[in-house]
Amino acid sequence: MTLDTSLQQELSAMEKAGTRKTFRHIAGPMDTQVSMEETGKALVLSSNNYLGLANHPEVIEAGRAALLKYGAGTASVRFICGTFSIHDEIEAALAKLSHTEAALTYVSCWTANTGLMPSIAGAEDVLISDALNHASLIDGCRMAKAKRMVYKHSDLVDLEAKLKEAQGARRLFIVTDGVFSMEGDIAKLPQIVTLSKQYSASIILDDSHGTGVMGTNGRGTAEHYGIEGQIDIITGTLGKALGGAAGGYVAGSKTLIDYLSQVSRPQLFSNALPATIAASAMKAIEILNREPQRVARLHAMTKTMRDGLIARGFKPLKGDSAIVPIIVGDTAFAIRMSQKLLKAGIFITGFGYPVVREGEARLRIQMCASLTDEQIAFAIDTFEKVGKELGVI
Ligand SMILES: Cc1ncc(COP(=O)(O)O)c(C=O)c1O
Repeated sequence: MTLDTSLQQELSAMEKAGTRKTFRHIAGPMDTQVSMEETGKALVLSSNNYLGLANHPEVIEAGRAALLKYGAGTASVRFICGTFSIHDEIEAALAKLSHTEAALTYVSCWTANTGLMPSIAGAEDVLISDALNHASLIDGCRMAKAKRMVYKHSDLVDLEAKLKEAQGARRLFIVTDGVFSMEGDIAKLPQIVTLSKQYSASIILDDSHGTGVMGTNGRGTAEHYGIEGQIDIITGTLGKALGGAAGGYVAGSKTLIDYLSQVSRPQLFSNALPATIAASAMKAIEILNREPQRVARLHAMTKTMRDGLIARGFKPLKGDSAIVPIIVGDTAFAIRMSQKLLKAGIFITGFGYPVVREGEARLRIQMCASLTDEQIAFAIDTFEKVGKELGVI
C-alpha cells in the first residue's frame, strides 16, 4: 500500500466517524464579526482575540511601521545576526508584564515550551505536570530527558505526593497552565507556590490564556491571585490577547534567559520572531496598560454570556476566565452542532477527541472585549435555538 493510500484510509475513517475537521476561510481580518468564504457573515466566538486587538488600527500600524523600518527579517538566527533592537524592546516589555527580570521571545509559545524544558530539565531532574496541561507543555516535557510525572488535574494532594516521591532530584519542576484552555478553569497557583517552596521546586507556568485576561490589569493568573513576582518561569503567547499574530516567550530570571539564549535549540537553529509581530505585540501591551477597562469589559461580557446560557438551560463549566465550555457529548455531535451554529451565524469550533476525552466533546466559547451587547444577545438566542433543535437543552 502506498503512503497516500494508507493515509487516505485514516482520513476516510475520520470522515465516516464525523470527526474530520474542516478549515473555514475568513476573507478579511479577525474581529467579532468576520466574513466567511463558505457561509458569509459570522459572529466569532472561537478566537483567542480576547482583547479585540487583532484588528486594532494602532496594532496594525505598529506592524506596518516595523515592516518599513526593519524589512521582512534578518534571514538568520538570533546569535548569528538575527537580533533587531525591537527584540530587546519587546523582551523588556514582556519581562515587565510578567514581573520577571528578563524574557526571551520565540516564534510561538509552542516553540517556547518545547525550547524551554529540554534545555533545563536533564536526566537527573523531574518534571511534574498537570494532567490537563496544553499539548505544547506535554510535548516539552516529553522532549526533555528528565523523569516525568503527571498529577491529577489541579489535585494538590496528588501533586504533593509526586513532589515527595521526586525528592532527591537535582532540579524539580511543577508544570502547569495558568488558565486551562479546554476547561477554562484556573490553576490553584497560591497553593502551588506554597508547595514549590516547601519541596524546593521551580514553577513553570504557561499563561497563554491568562495574559491579557486574568487580573485587573490583565497581567495574568499571578496578578489574579495577587502573587506577582512569585512564579519562577512564565511562558506565554503573542498569538492570543497580545495582538493575535503569532510569537511566544519565556520570562524568568536573567540567568535563566541568558542560559536559554545559549542552549535552547529553537534559539540556536531557527530564525527570530518577525519584527512586524514584535512591534504589533509591543503596541498591544501598550494598549493593555493604557486601557485596563478592556479587561473589565471582557469579564463583564463573559458573565453576561455565562448567565444567559444558564438561564436558557445550558450548563457551562464553571470558571473565572474568558473561556466558557459547554460539554455536549461525543465528537461527531460537537462538530455537527458547530456546523448548525455556523449556518445560524455563529462561528464556534466543536472540540473532541483527541483534544479532550471521548464523551466530553465540547463547544468552547471564547469571549472578546469588543463584543457588543447586541452580539451577545444574538449569540444566546442562537445557542438556545440550535440547542433546542438538537435536544441539548
Ligand atoms: C496553553 C497554551 N500554550 C501554548 C499554546 C501555543 O501557542 P502558540 O500558538 O503561540 O504556539 C497554546 C495555543 O493554543 C495554548 O493554549
